[in-house]
Amino acid sequence: LVIVIDFGGQYNQLVARRVRECNVYCEIYSYKTDLEKIKAMNPKGIILTGGPNSCYEADSPTYQKELFELGIPVLGLCYGAQLMMHVLGGKVEKADVSEYGKTELLVDKKDSRIFEGVSEKTIVWMSHTDYISQAAPGFEISAHTADCPVATAENAEKKLYAIQFHPEVLHTVEGKKMLSNFVLGVCECAGDWKMDAFVEHTIKEIREKVGDGKVLLALSGGVDSSVAAGLLSRAIGKQLTCVFVDHGLLRKDEGDEVEGVFGPNGQFDLNFIRVNAQQRYYDKLAGVTEPEAKRKIIGEEFIRIFEEEAKKIGAVDFLAQGTIYPDVVESGLGGESAVIKSHHNVGGLPDFVDFKEIIEPLRDLFKDEVRKAGLELGIPEKLVFRQPFPGPGLGIRIIGEVTEEKVRIVQDADFIYREEIDKAAEAYKIENGKEPSWMPNQYFAALTNMRSVGVMGDFRTYDYAVALRAVKTIDFMTAESAEIPYEVLNRVMNRVINEVKGVNRVFYDLTSKPPGTIEFE
Ligand code: XMP
Repeated sequence: LVIVIDFGGQYNQLVARRVRECNVYCEIYSYKTDLEKIKAMNPKGIILTGGPNSCYEADSPTYQKELFELGIPVLGLCYGAQLMMHVLGGKVEKADVSEYGKTELLVDKKDSRIFEGVSEKTIVWMSHTDYISQAAPGFEISAHTADCPVATAENAEKKLYAIQFHPEVLHTVEGKKMLSNFVLGVCECAGDWKMDAFVEHTIKEIREKVGDGKVLLALSGGVDSSVAAGLLSRAIGKQLTCVFVDHGLLRKDEGDEVEGVFGPNGQFDLNFIRVNAQQRYYDKLAGVTEPEAKRKIIGEEFIRIFEEEAKKIGAVDFLAQGTIYPDVVESGLGGESAVIKSHHNVGGLPDFVDFKEIIEPLRDLFKDEVRKAGLELGIPEKLVFRQPFPGPGLGIRIIGEVTEEKVRIVQDADFIYREEIDKAAEAYKIENGKEPSWMPNQYFAALTNMRSVGVMGDFRTYDYAVALRAVKTIDFMTAESAEIPYEVLNRVMNRVINEVKGVNRVFYDLTSKPPGTIEFE
C-alpha cells in the first residue's frame, strides 16, 4: 500500500492512478488524517500531493514533522515538496518568476534513485509560484532548472524525496519512470497488484458498508452504471435492485442487451426491474420540436418513472451511483481540490427516493480503469467498450419531433454505420497491427428533419436524409470530424439507402466542435 496525502492539488487522483499503473495499490487521504491512522495502515510509501496554498502561511495545510521520521519513504510533489522542505528546516519563498509549463530539467545527482534510467536533460511540467530557495539540512539538491535552483532534493538515507514539478502529468516526459523509481525502487513495492485486487477489495468494502441493507441503483446500461451494478451484485446479490428504464430512445437492440446481461437470464445475481416506457415517452414527445423542451421532458419522465418504481420498492438503505472520478473533479467535490464546474451526474440527489446514504464504488477510478474493472467482473466487451451515449439518447439525434418511425429509422441507420466502421477498423488492425488514424472516439447516425426528392428504380421518392457523424476528440470539449475513408462512407450510404426504409439521402457531417456540438441538439 502507498498512501497519497491530498493537499488540494488538481492532479492528486492522477498521482494515485500512476501508482496503480505501477501495479501498486494506493489510497488517498486528506492531509487532515491523523498520523496514527496513517501509521496503522503500515504503508510502504507516502506521497504528498501539490496544492494551491503557500506552505509558509499560518493557516495553510500542513503535516507534523513526525511523518518524515517514521522510516517510511516520503515523496513530496510541488506543494508537498515545499512543505517537506519547510517542515524540515529548509526555506520556501515567493518566486520572482513563477514557472508554468514545459521546462527543461537538468539532473545534477546522476546516481539519484529517482532518476535511474532518466535522461540527464529532460522535459518536466512545472506549475508553481513559490519555490524552494534552500533545501532542508541533510538534503542534497539533485536537479535544477533555469529558474528553479532546487527542482528536486533528496535525503537518500532517510528516503525523503522532494520534487518541485509534476511527474504525474504526461507533459513530464519521463515522469512515469520517476514515480515508478520511487514506488518500486525506493519503497520496494512488489508491483503485483492488479484490477482484480481492486474488485476484490471493493466487494469487501461494499459488504462491510451495506451489511444486510438494501441498495437501489438506476441502471442506464452505460459503462459506469453497468460496472457499478456488477460490483454491487457480486458483493451483495439480491440486496441490490436495479431499475432499468427503457425510454425507447436507446440504440438498436440495446434494451435487450442490457436485460441479457443483468436480467434474470444473465450472469449477475440481483433484482432487475425493466420498465418498458417506450410508448409513454413517444406520447410525451409528440409534437415537441424544441431541443431543450425535448431534453427536459425526457429527463423529467425518467425521474417520474424512477420515483414510481422507488415507491413500489419502499425504503432502501443506500442509493448507489456510478459516479467516476472525472465526474467528481468537474463538480469540485474531489477531496481538497478547488471547484472547476458543476456536473449533471453528481450532486443532484433524487430527494424522492427514501434512502439513508449514497454509495459510489467507482468514485476513485478513471474511465479506462472502470472498463478494466468491468472486464474483470465478466461484463461483455460490447458493454464495457460502449461509446459515450447521451442520457436523452436518440431523442437528441432526431432533429425536430420524435416519432416511433423516426426512432426506427435512426436506430437502423446507426446500426449499419457502426457495424461498417467497426468492420473497417478491425480489418485495418489485422492488416497493420494498429488502430487506424481515422478511428473516431464517437460515431453515430442522426436523423435530419429534412425530406428531399430522390429516385429509386423508376419511382420518385420523398424521404428523410440521414446524417453520419464521427469525431476525434480527447476530452469531448473540442472535436474534429474524423477522416473516415471514402469507401467506408460509400458503403454505409449504399447500405442505409437500400436497407432502411424511409431514407433516400446520406450526409457526412464535417463540422468541428466548436462551432458545432457533437450531438445535434
Ligand atoms: P456535445 O453535444 O455537448 O456532447 O458536444 C459532448 C459529449 O457529451 C455527450 N452528451 C451527453 N451526455 N447527457 C449525457 O450523459 C446529455 O444530456 C448529453 N449531451 C451530450 C455527447 O454524447 C458527447 O459525448
